[in-house]
Amino acid sequence: MAVCFSSPVKPTTYFTIRTQPKPKNPIFRCQCSVTTITTTEPQPIYTSVRSFAPATVANLGPGFDFLGCAVDGIGDYVSLRLDPAVHPGEISITDIDGPSKLSKNPLWNCAGIAAIAAMKMLGVRSVGLSLSLEKGLPLGSGLGSSAASAAAACVAVNEMFGGKLKADELVLAGLESEAKVSGYHADNIAPAIMGGFVLIRSYDPLELMRLEFPINKELFFVLVSPEFEAPTKKMRAALPAEVGMPHHVWNCSQAGALVASVLQGDLVGLGKALSSDKIVEPKRAPLIPGMEAVKKAAIEAGAFGCTISGAGPTAVAIVEDEERGRMIGEKMAEAFWREGNLKAAVAVKRLDRVGARLISSIPR
Ligand code: HSE
Repeated sequence: MAVCFSSPVKPTTYFTIRTQPKPKNPIFRCQCSVTTITTTEPQPIYTSVRSFAPATVANLGPGFDFLGCAVDGIGDYVSLRLDPAVHPGEISITDIDGPSKLSKNPLWNCAGIAAIAAMKMLGVRSVGLSLSLEKGLPLGSGLGSSAASAAAACVAVNEMFGGKLKADELVLAGLESEAKVSGYHADNIAPAIMGGFVLIRSYDPLELMRLEFPINKELFFVLVSPEFEAPTKKMRAALPAEVGMPHHVWNCSQAGALVASVLQGDLVGLGKALSSDKIVEPKRAPLIPGMEAVKKAAIEAGAFGCTISGAGPTAVAIVEDEERGRMIGEKMAEAFWREGNLKAAVAVKRLDRVGARLISSIPR
């Protein structure tokens, strides 16, 4: 697994560095569910590891449940260590630096569920593990908070035992957790693990396509998060069970345009497609006070496009310049206050191209 030295991670002990470039636009296919994948039980190669997984923007407008991307500089951390006091094959959550409502019962915690799934896949039976979670992301904000915890946890387990699980297998481990807390959707967990833009082409079998945004091009996400909780389960319940043919045709063509724009590094096309959802956003925006005005303010101030990030309530806009992004973010926050009576925090972030990674480790 690669280690990235860019913000926000601060390396502290030992590191491995990716020496091979990632293959271009790889397709990951996986027929497996969470069953043991390795033939012999792997042995731990570290006594402790620390991992990071980034925030994610799911849906990207017309890509409900099948498009998402990772955002640089914000996310969750997991520290994992071999612990003789923990029953072999089990995991214990010792600390959570984050909201007090998060459970330390591993069966009810996103990081715990994903870590157990990864241990099961690897066939870990002889050692027990202690996990501590550091939440960098607020809950229910639309930035993939649950996925970041799950991604950091399953990557930490995998690295602890030599990195035998592939990206799509890690996504399946993370999906166990997502299914329990918010719904069976991989558009946060896949980019949280793989980085960059990811298309979920199929769920059964899981088939993931990484979409390479040109390395020489820059884009910024303006993330405006109001003080309002939009639980994913509730926001999913607001959606129609069926859609009409005209909306189906429109949304599919916009999602196609979005994929083409990502691959071409075309920010104008990307923004236009991001803004275009006629199925999900119109049902959810009225549930987030001020959202419609926020989108209007972003576009009027010069953003290429704007929509709800994931299930909300964060609004996401696309720009090419960081400074301009801040100005546009202020206009969006003003609109949340004026029209929704909500205070909002503004952040302007780059694309995370790496995904969940080990940031430090202590060999045995
Ligand atoms: N696709 C999911 C939804 C993402 O919109 O419900 C949730 O973050």
